[in-house]
Amino acid sequence: MSASNGPAPACGCACDGQLSEEELSAHLGDIIDEYRDKPGGLIPALQTTQALFGYLPQAAIGRIAAGFGKPLSEVAGIVTFYSFFALHPRGKHVIRVCLGTACYVRGGQQVLDDFKKKLAIDVGETTPDRQFSLEVGRCFGACGMAPVVMVNQTVYQRVKPARVGELVNQIVSGTAAAEEEQVNG
Ligand code: FES
Repeated sequence: MSASNGPAPACGCACDGQLSEEELSAHLGDIIDEYRDKPGGLIPALQTTQALFGYLPQAAIGRIAAGFGKPLSEVAGIVTFYSFFALHPRGKHVIRVCLGTACYVRGGQQVLDDFKKKLAIDVGETTPDRQFSLEVGRCFGACGMAPVVMVNQTVYQRVKPARVGELVNQIVSGTAAAEEEQVNG
């Protein structure tokens, strides 16, 4: 388990956000201690662990299962059931293309295919430089503005396939709008 898989720091201080394996292990122990005896504490424990590592390493899942006294298969089943859990390191920018009905019929699949081509990855994969992960969603609640794409917490509406490359370049250059915006053809 590499400390380099930890999330980027959000504290704004001078630290580089990297924790040693010992620190990560100690944090994981604290998380288990905090949630083990709380009703329904397993999912918050997994969420907090994912926030710590940036994803859920298999070793962490095993340790949480042991800490909660549950079979590994049960905890692994929970992790794979919920789409917000990630079993592999995600990129800095998580692109989620909606393939709900409204988005699908308005070109969502073509948008997804163009992201695949532009990033040279498939759904569920992360670019080698860890900048982008590509995922699909099933309705983000903005069907009237389909097709819709989310990049981290930012919603992009009416995304035209022809603008996919431009959107990726904007994100890379750090000029993508921080708030909801429309990408019109
Ligand atoms: S189907 Fe895509 S936002 Fe609803």
